[in-house]
Amino acid sequence: MPLLVLAHPLGAHVLTHLRDQTTKPALFRTLSYQIGLLLALEATRDLTTVAKYIDTPLEPMAGRVLAQPLAIVPILRAGLGMVQPFLDIFPDVSVGYVGLERDHTTAIARSYYCKLPPLAGKRVLVVDPMLATGGSAAQAIDVVKAAGAKEIVFVCIVSSPEGVAKLQGAHPEITIHTGALDRELNAKKYILPGLGDFGDRLYGT
Ligand code: PRP
Ligand code: URA
Repeated sequence: MPLLVLAHPLGAHVLTHLRDQTTKPALFRTLSYQIGLLLALEATRDLTTVAKYIDTPLEPMAGRVLAQPLAIVPILRAGLGMVQPFLDIFPDVSVGYVGLERDHTTAIARSYYCKLPPLAGKRVLVVDPMLATGGSAAQAIDVVKAAGAKEIVFVCIVSSPEGVAKLQGAHPEITIHTGALDRELNAKKYILPGLGDFGDRLYGT
């Protein structure tokens, strides 16, 4: 399935400020919200709708409303920075959590938490700002599939070619929405040019 790179000029503007090493956590959180909102709109562009008959103040009409329930599953901890925009535009969305942490030397993700709502029949948006080696995303998607999710989309802010290849290899049917596709990983498996450690910058740690 495709890799879709955000094309909105506001996305490029926000990402540049997110990447800037002088951006402090308070602004970093605002910018994360802003790009998360743009990505939330892109990742739900193809949701199905059904007719709903209503009366406007002037006459009856057939409107349309969303047909499919949604769930968002942030990968802790950095994924939390992308949740609020989804809550704001989809107030009925269910939220699940998958806690994964990369080992600093091996870059292999270790699972430490999982709490998921019922996922069958829902569009499930797995969100994590950084797709680096792809190990965390592939593991999180294994988990949501095992919990019954069938229709899954992965949403990230910055991705690497290595991470995209790994995720497409592990879960070829999944659409990936990314704010930017960067050049490569460095020896420590950080994305270049990237933005550094997203979780640390989001929470000032
Ligand atoms: C970061 C990021 C992803 C992961 C990406 O999380 O938020 O979850 O690394 O790397 P990968 O594609 O190589 O797996 P980290 O493990 O640093 O934990 P944190 O969110 O708690 O900071
Ligand atoms: N996690 C991050 O936060 N940044 C990277 O560049 C890679 C993994």
